[in-house]
Amino acid sequence: MSSVAGPSTPSRKRSKWEGDAEEETRPASPVRRVKQKVTQPPPTSSSNSNPGQHGSAPPRARSKFVPQRNHHPPILSSRSVYSYERLNQIEEGSYGVVYRARDKDTGEIVALKKLKLEEEKNGFPITALREINALMTCRHENVVNIREVVVGDTLTQVFVVMDFIEHDLKTLLQTMPAPFLQSEIKTLLLQLLSAVDHCHENWILHRDLKTSNLLMNNRGTIKVADFGLARRYGDPVGVGGLTQLVVTLWYRAPELLLGATKYSTAVDLWSVGCIFAELLTKEPLFQAKNEIELISMIFKLLGPPTHASWPGYSDLPLAKSMNLPSPQPALFRQQFPHLSANGLDLMISLLTYDPAARISAAEAMEHPYFKESPLPKHPDLFGSFPSAAAGEKRKPKMYKSPTAPRAADYKIVTEFDIT
Ligand SMILES: Nc1ncnc2c1ncn2[C@@H]1O[C@H](COP(=O)(O)OP(=O)(O)OP(=O)(O)O)[C@@H](O)[C@H]1O
Ligand SMILES: [Mg+2]
Repeated sequence: MSSVAGPSTPSRKRSKWEGDAEEETRPASPVRRVKQKVTQPPPTSSSNSNPGQHGSAPPRARSKFVPQRNHHPPILSSRSVYSYERLNQIEEGSYGVVYRARDKDTGEIVALKKLKLEEEKNGFPITALREINALMTCRHENVVNIREVVVGDTLTQVFVVMDFIEHDLKTLLQTMPAPFLQSEIKTLLLQLLSAVDHCHENWILHRDLKTSNLLMNNRGTIKVADFGLARRYGDPVGVGGLTQLVVTLWYRAPELLLGATKYSTAVDLWSVGCIFAELLTKEPLFQAKNEIELISMIFKLLGPPTHASWPGYSDLPLAKSMNLPSPQPALFRQQFPHLSANGLDLMISLLTYDPAARISAAEAMEHPYFKESPLPKHPDLFGSFPSAAAGEKRKPKMYKSPTAPRAADYKIVTEFDIT
């Protein structure tokens, strides 16, 4: 077995996936079927019985929307991580370490994301559960395929096994000598929109779209990854609303920056707009150091919001503490001088202040930009690049982008002074 030790190598032998020969020979735990308890189906008719009464167990009132226990799929135990041979560490992100590995049975190369559970005091973290659930809900050609969840020796060793994809777009954009061609950008953008539309159709918000979370294989296909901040939308939310602590700073929509607790699919489309710009220039659009600088940069590019461009603006929690700069026209044309009128229109439709007026993923896919010359390139015609993740090329260190937000990092910005 390859013994490339990463910085996360734990000191205790039994908790090492990348352990010695003794551990290497451990048989993979067989897949067992957990015995299911046979439960009585709940009463179907409404009952007046009082659940607090003593005596024989009264039938409990149950919502017709909750599936019966015996309707749940059979629960299988997870396989062991020792079913895989570790090859190299790809990346350490804020929520986990990602390794490249080989399936010992099939020889297939996969990616394993080790979830960071060590710091968890309150059981299995909700972010990990959401990530697994969202990946399973959003299966699609342009969403990274989750194969299984495997476990190590200790309770803190849980790994998500995915197809291995050669590149992430952030690393690729930093290393490729020239930007993508327009025809390639159209293909990538269409694939991204198709994945985002699929997630939204399945009631999932990604909430962390950015180039480092977009993987691309050597056949020109994009796979959206990192569902660590994803969640279902459309469900009733608690009194405090949805957390604003989502989306990595540079890709965060203005309604989130201004404290909106009710937001929806439009937050992902703002991020798609930022990614579109980054594909064109190879540089992130808003490289701000903090929220205040980001808002200032957005106001500069789009012109400050007005009642006409964003009717709900003044109702946002942080809007009152803002000093709006004097009206100025949008600077889109100067920023993207070579983009066609249709391309610019799509960019403006994605980077629209008012979330209600922002274009949806389904609408964006039908935009005239994708129908004008040059037409989207067939993915098979994309060139291939050396893969930094497979160790074929060193990872560049050109700029350091902010990481996905975590609750501990969050400070509410109470005052903006935008001039
Ligand atoms: N299936 C995969 N195949 C190849 N590389 C992958 C795969 N999944 C993730 N990676 C690499 O690992 C990196 C981090 O993965 P991911 O974004 O899922 O972790 P994270 O901890 O949530 O990261 P962050 O918080 O920094 O966004 C990705 O940017 C990509 O370079
Ligand atoms: Mg990530």
